[in-house]
Amino acid sequence: MSTTSLTAVPFNRTHVCDNELGYLTEAVRQGFTCGDGPFTRRATELLRELTGAGHALLTTSCTHALEMSAILLDLRPGDEVIMPSFTFVSTANAYALRGAVPVFVDCRPDTLNIDERLIEAAITGRTRAVVVVHYAGVACEMDAVQALADRYGLAVVEDNAHGLGGFYRNRPLGSFGCMAAQSFHATKNVQCGEGGALLLQDAALAARAEIIREKGTDRSRFYRGQVDKYQWIDIGSSYLPSDVLAAMLTAQLESFGSIQARRHTVWQAYHEGLSEWAGDNGVAQPVVPEDRRHPAHLYYLLLPDLHHRQAFLAHLAAAGVQAAFHYQPLHHAVAGLRYGRTAPGGCPVTEHVADRLVRLPLFAGLDDAGVTRVIEAVRGYRVDR
Ligand SMILES: Cc1ncc(COP(=O)(O)O)c(C=O)c1O
Repeated sequence: MSTTSLTAVPFNRTHVCDNELGYLTEAVRQGFTCGDGPFTRRATELLRELTGAGHALLTTSCTHALEMSAILLDLRPGDEVIMPSFTFVSTANAYALRGAVPVFVDCRPDTLNIDERLIEAAITGRTRAVVVVHYAGVACEMDAVQALADRYGLAVVEDNAHGLGGFYRNRPLGSFGCMAAQSFHATKNVQCGEGGALLLQDAALAARAEIIREKGTDRSRFYRGQVDKYQWIDIGSSYLPSDVLAAMLTAQLESFGSIQARRHTVWQAYHEGLSEWAGDNGVAQPVVPEDRRHPAHLYYLLLPDLHHRQAFLAHLAAAGVQAAFHYQPLHHAVAGLRYGRTAPGGCPVTEHVADRLVRLPLFAGLDDAGVTRVIEAVRGYRVDR
């Protein structure tokens, strides 16, 4: 019997891969449960292969990887970091923690990514970096962003929480910025409950990042026998995950192909199965420009307005389908107003999108019956116009 025929279709269910429990047992039995053990090395190598990153460091979360990027940028209080308002709090928090000012830029109405045409007007003498977020794993306009960053001497950081497996013009996401932050939170395509990674291209930056991840010490070098004692070298914190979590992540990364294949099947079924309904009801579906490949991280619909979004969520819940909205705009959030600044022109598109967006269930374990149930439930809603 289908797993989703009787109960509600959950919004997300964490996916367990073939080797996961075996690797977890091995990790516990090997007697090496702290970080930087054999599974950390295996997961790191797999991640480098997937992203083409020169250097990869597993971290305890994407949030922490972003915090590390803020330390590595040597931000000073009052420095400004440009980013979208339509993102998760961690994107801004990481830089606000260093005393920097997040500068919120509006998003594009098609991909919902930072609108690269609005970045230049947000640049001041204090601007140090641009942080891009590839929403739903659909790449930002990286050529334009990089050209602007080069012109003004700014660092580019990718918040690639959604984008593992995505491409921009045949180049993997995570390989564009001087740094990229990955998430392996339970809601992501590849997950270990809580986890992340910092990807870097530059060897010297990566060497410093390793110290920052180990409480500001050169303990990693000591373990490799490169120094005879380890000491406090830099500021840092405890950003290194346990090898037990790395064991789970290794199993997930090894199953990346099958996880992605199923997620793409579900994504495509929604996209095709809902296109007529969307057209009839004035609902927008995700836009993926031709020069990009997305990793089927999430599937969303944009209802005409807040009233319909709320009614649609209630309709889906009554039909046994758990759906969710996404991102409260940061430029209006309590901390956004306190620590950030909004770029000229405000963020009207972000506000409009945040009112209208609904995410449908999407996970590798969602079976065909579940997908059909979601599609039928969605089609049962009519937008009165
Ligand atoms: C864009 C973005 N950045 C950062 C994060 C934080 O990730 P983590 O939970 O791994 O810290 C999230 C979480 O979903 C996110 O959506």
